[in-house]
Order: sequence, then C-alpha cells, then structure tokens
Amino acid sequence: MTSATSTTSTSVTSDRDWWRQAVVYQIYPRSFADANGDGIGDLRGIIDHAGHLVRLGVDAVWLSPFYPSALADGGYDVDDYRAVAPELGTLDDFDELVSVLHGAGIRLIVDIVPNHTSNRHAWFREALASPPGSAARNRYVIRRGTGPDGAEPPTDWRSFFGGPAWEPIGDGDWYLHLFAPEQPDLNWALDEVREDFLTTLRFWSDRGVDGFRIDVAHLLVKDASVIGGAAADLPTQERIQAGFPDGQHPFEGRDEVHEIYRTWRALFDEYDPPRMAVAEAWVAAHRRVAFARPEGLGQAFNFDLLLTPWDAAAFTKVITENLALSAEAGASSTWVFSNHDMVRHVTRYAVPNGTDLVAWLRAGGHDPEPDLERGLRRARAATLLALALPGSTYVYQGEELGLPEVTDLPADVLQDPTFVRTEGAEKGRDGCRVPLPWTETGESFGFGPGTASHLPQPEWFGAYAVERELNEPASTLHFYIDALAARRSLQGAEELSWRTSTADVVAFERPGGWVSVTNFGEHPVPMPEGRVVIASRAVDALELPAETTVWLQTTGA
Ligand code: NOJ
Ligand code: CA
Repeated sequence: MTSATSTTSTSVTSDRDWWRQAVVYQIYPRSFADANGDGIGDLRGIIDHAGHLVRLGVDAVWLSPFYPSALADGGYDVDDYRAVAPELGTLDDFDELVSVLHGAGIRLIVDIVPNHTSNRHAWFREALASPPGSAARNRYVIRRGTGPDGAEPPTDWRSFFGGPAWEPIGDGDWYLHLFAPEQPDLNWALDEVREDFLTTLRFWSDRGVDGFRIDVAHLLVKDASVIGGAAADLPTQERIQAGFPDGQHPFEGRDEVHEIYRTWRALFDEYDPPRMAVAEAWVAAHRRVAFARPEGLGQAFNFDLLLTPWDAAAFTKVITENLALSAEAGASSTWVFSNHDMVRHVTRYAVPNGTDLVAWLRAGGHDPEPDLERGLRRARAATLLALALPGSTYVYQGEELGLPEVTDLPADVLQDPTFVRTEGAEKGRDGCRVPLPWTETGESFGFGPGTASHLPQPEWFGAYAVERELNEPASTLHFYIDALAARRSLQGAEELSWRTSTADVVAFERPGGWVSVTNFGEHPVPMPEGRVVIASRAVDALELPAETTVWLQTTGA
C-alpha cells in the first residue's frame, strides 16, 4: 500500500445512505494496474494503487467483472460468479482489497451479470451435455428450431452485438444470446436460477461488498412465449424494432423483472448497512423509476448526460427530468459521462455535436480531426457541473487524467466482440479500455513491471500519466482532486434551485450558497457574484471564459 493510504485513519461507517451522493470510481480491472507484469491488470494492482483512489478522494469503487472468464466480452461472460479469475488473483486478494479500501473509507461495489452466463459456466456445459427437454437445458432460453429437424432459428432476432441472437446446439435446439454467442441467456422463470443469484449476492455481501452494479438489469425476464410458446407467435425482428407499449416487449423492461429485484432488496436489507444496488437498465427514462425505488434496486443509471450534446438547454432538460424522476423513485440521481462501453467524453466533446461516433471511429477517428484541447476544456466543465448536482457521480478510470479515447487501435488487436460480429461496422469499445498510464516513460507507462499491456498503449499516453500530472498543478488530475475535495466540504441536502441565466449559461444553487455556473458558449460572460471555489480552467475575477464551469460560494463570501 502507498503512503497516502497508510496515513488515512478513516474507515467505512454504517451510514445507510452513503451512496446517495457518492463519487464512485469505476475500475475495469484488466486495464487498471498490473502487479505481476503479465500485461493484464489484477487485484494486487488495485491494492498497490489504492493510494491513487485515496488521493483522488472517491467514496466508492465499482469493480467491473473480475470473475473467471474467457473474455469473449471483456469479462461480462462469467464462468463462475463466486470466484476470482486466476489471472486477476485469488479470493484472499479480494478480501485484502475489501479491507484496504474499507480501511481507507472507500466502499466497494461489484458487477453482477445476471442476464447471461458464459458458455463455459458449469450450467451451460451441463445443458450442452444433456438432451433436449432436460432440466439442464431449461436453465437457459432454449427452444426448438423451425423448419425440418429444427434446422432454422426460432426467430430472426439479432443480437445487440450484431449477428443472429440464436445459436444452434446441433440437435434441433437453439439457445438465445442477446449478446455474444458465448453469453447464453438464463431462464429467469426458474426458481433455481433465482435462488442461485441470491446465493451469489449473499456470497459477496458476506465478504463485505457494499453494493452491486446490475448488468442489463432490464433484460432478465422474457415473455413466457419466448421460452415455451409456438414459434409462430413470436414477433419478428422488424416488429421488435417498431417498439412495444411499456412492459410488453418480449424481453426488454418487462414489469415482472421487479419481482426479482424485490427479493434482492429483501436480501440487501438484511445487512447493516443495507447493500446498495444500481441498475444498468436501458429503458425509457420514466421506466427507470421502478428500478430505482427503495423496494427495488434503489438506484438506476441515467446515461442521458453521456448521450447529450454540448448544449446548455439540452443539459438543463436532462438534469431537470432526472431530478424529478429520482425524486419520484425516492432514489438519488446518477451522473455519468464515461464508462467502459462509451467513447471517452474528452473525445466526444472534441468533435462537432451530431458527429456519428460509430462511423467516425470506424474511419480511424481523424475525419474530422478531434480538437482535443476543446474536448478536454468541455469535459472538465461538464464534470465540474455534474459534481455540483445532487446525487451520485460515476467516474470512469482515466477520466481523472483527461485521457482521450484511443481511436486508432489496429484491427488485429481489437478484443471487443462487436467488431467481428458487425463485420467491422462497429470498431467497438477497446479504445476506452486501454491500460492506464501511471508513469511518463517505461514500456507500459507503469501499467505493470513488464513490457506488455493487453491492449497497446499509444506513444502519447505518457503525457497523461498519473506521475506526470501529479507534478503539474494545472493538470486534470489535480483538478479532479480539488473538485472532489471541494464537493465534500460543500455537499448538503439533495436540493437544487435554478438561477436565471442567459441562453448559453447553466446556473444553479445548492444549499449553503454553493453556486455552479457553466458557460457553454464560445464567448466569455461576466463572472457572477461570489467567491470562486474552483473552476474548470483558469479564471479571473471579471470573466467566466467560454466552455468553463465555476463554483462560487455566495454566502459568507
Ligand atoms: C453491459 C456492459 O456494460 C457491457 O460491457 C456488456 O457488454 C453488456 N452489458 C453485456 O453484458
Ligand atoms: Ca497481471
């Protein structure tokens, strides 16, 4: 452990509401830090770099999957939900990580992937080894194919990663995989499946895990007709794309899914403090409420800011809507700009609003050439705005360094299944998963002691290294450290009142006279009244520059 950790004497408390306004730092473990030099980030790497998290001042870590996996989908293809991938460490390492983080006052949230197992999971192996109609097959969404001998797929459904959503087993049965073929969908109609996940949630809760991020929480329950009905009654892909009334889609956002989360909540509430959970649910905004209710998972991601262009009115609308929805749910809101699935926000803001990012990435990320200076300026302003909002902010590893997306990874190193399954139409998500630079030089920029990193780092990575940014007072890393510290001291009740402002300016006030003002425009505006606490870039007393956020203390200033 580094000295920053050992000098900290805090530890986690039994506050049951700790998550409501937490800053949660997402770690994609295979790309965070590699302790043993095999090119793959590991749990020991996180333990060794806990000082970074302490210095940053985050309240919690969300750990993306660290379970045994063949990495058909970056670990979201889980072989065993109650084990640690051997290349990442052991359960003892995991326990040590929990205690190191807890000793530093940082909570731990782990990722649960309940919609699908991997095809190497014991259940799926058993299903393949068992005959059609067997109990083992029934744990998955498996049905007979159509046509003679079931040689044709049950439907023409497409997977979210491209290509067909059904895979033949070879004996007339086909299994559903809404994602990669290595990710067979579980049959959540079965009590055995439900019980097994309760066991998993208990397993990690008993080890001291503070919360869970629930992968594609909206997909678990399929309409009964998908599992057992006549193929002719199933909608076509075209019909699916046309959309369904709320709750009537054959597998997305069905109301019955909340019965599952009620049982999870009952389990979470047996712990002190209750375990928190946050749903990843790609449903319409008003349908997120049910996931976020206290009798459900308790919180749901909104990815709206992540999908919002750099525009004052658009930001205001998203914030207003999400504060209302989270209040309706009795939850706090979540704010996210980057994660392991999305183009990093520095890069998104570096290209003109409305750019088709998929096409832009496919073409190598140079047409148009990103204006990374502007991207970083906007990213810092957006982040500072979000950090002033009531609710939790989720920060993705590397964004505290202002790290841009790596847009030009060569095809032969890409790991994301979307690249192959869309036949190259989508380059995929590897560009935000490149291992972090810790040192300015060195063959893997300090990612590990070896030369390797499982995705190649570009030459320019050293300029964003933690070590380098720590030595530069104006760096993005120092900006995040200062912003998180200021937020901690200013944070109060989950209330916000809007301040009137001009068209390009978003201004609001939090309890205690904490005011956040963002100038989305291209020209400076007069600096509002108050004492400047922090700004997303250098400001003087008179003007708030273009594309800048400032926090002001307006009472007792
Ligand atoms: C959402 C995860 O964030 C993503 O990385 C994964 O590919 C899919 N769910 C499937 O598990
Ligand atoms: Ca390693």
